Amino acid sequence: MIPLAVPDLSGNEARYLQDCIASTYVSSIGPFVDRFESMISEAAGTGAAVATSSGTAGLHVALVAVGVQHNDLVILPSFTFIASANAIAQCGAEPWLFDVTAESWTLDPDLLRARLETETRAEGAGGIGRIHIPSGKRVAAIMPVHTLGLPADMDAIADIARGFGIPTVADAAPAIGATYKGRPVGQCGANLSVFSFNGNKTVTSGGGGAVIGDDGEALALVRHLSSTARTGAGYDHDRAGFNYRMTNLQAAVGCAQMERLDDLVAAKRRIRRVYEDAFAHLSEVENFPSPDWAESACWFSGVTWHSDADALRAKLREAGVDAKPFWKPVHLQKPYAGSPRTELDVTEDIWRRIVILPCSSNLTDGELARVIDCVAG
Ligand SMILES: Cc1ncc(COP(=O)(O)O)c(C=O)c1O
Repeated sequence: MIPLAVPDLSGNEARYLQDCIASTYVSSIGPFVDRFESMISEAAGTGAAVATSSGTAGLHVALVAVGVQHNDLVILPSFTFIASANAIAQCGAEPWLFDVTAESWTLDPDLLRARLETETRAEGAGGIGRIHIPSGKRVAAIMPVHTLGLPADMDAIADIARGFGIPTVADAAPAIGATYKGRPVGQCGANLSVFSFNGNKTVTSGGGGAVIGDDGEALALVRHLSSTARTGAGYDHDRAGFNYRMTNLQAAVGCAQMERLDDLVAAKRRIRRVYEDAFAHLSEVENFPSPDWAESACWFSGVTWHSDADALRAKLREAGVDAKPFWKPVHLQKPYAGSPRTELDVTEDIWRRIVILPCSSNLTDGELARVIDCVAG
């Protein structure tokens, strides 16, 4: 079976892991953690980065750092992996689910502005955020998602967020290497952004995440909260913190991967181009979005299929090609079925038609040709 997305661990990964073992620095203090954070902040174009044990942990602690509390709402596109919503729920908050645009599959800024104008009111003198009129809950943050590695239209979203006094935490899980209007993804205007380095990501640390941003104060709070909110060398802690720091073992793998970031992202972009060229003549196929404001990191590639997507996936699997459905929208998931939401027509339409195709960065030309033959044949 040609797998969907497997990591390429052919660089210094094994050697750096051996270094960790030899040094006994296997936990969350160690030189690879510091080096990984520098590599991430440099690639993302931000002042600093805090490495975390997962992307979900990074999202959770970032939301807490910008002030999300129990009983709040956080605006989230429904077309995302459930982890985005879970991070909100872990704050004791609830997602307010929004549709995406058909042109980008990311949070719709016009819808965002319209609903903030008509369904929220100011919180009162000096209050942060807005009150969602139907539920009476505070809208404490906006979480745009950089779908499949394509940055959301962040100038528009950040402008709206600022206008309404709401902080933004971007779920940039698969977006390392992407650019927004020519700028590295960390400079897209979110208060904080969060990467994931899960095994299926373009760059992996086995499991892990990173919180980035230019807001030094918020990042310092993220660092403090993720390491048990410890103050000083004794066992004093000033908040109920988390144990969310990345380990030196994870960071060792991450550093080896980051050394090849440009090549790994270039390989992903090439796969996207090859599929697009190969399927250009097929009337059933629509390409994944490519708005002019961003260059996607092309984490996953595939097709939007205008006839029966289940049948295409079954045909591919029979031919030994792994092809999967993609994120079942959050509003269709049991824990979030009752969450407030906008109409979600675009989200549901994408979900029904999307077919992810094999896109490992080390996919061979022969494997690519087999996948293409199978889709087009
Ligand atoms: C959009 C999105 N958000 C959040 C996550 C969660 O990241 P992690 O698996 O590192 O917790 C992922 C990936 O797994 C993701 O794709």
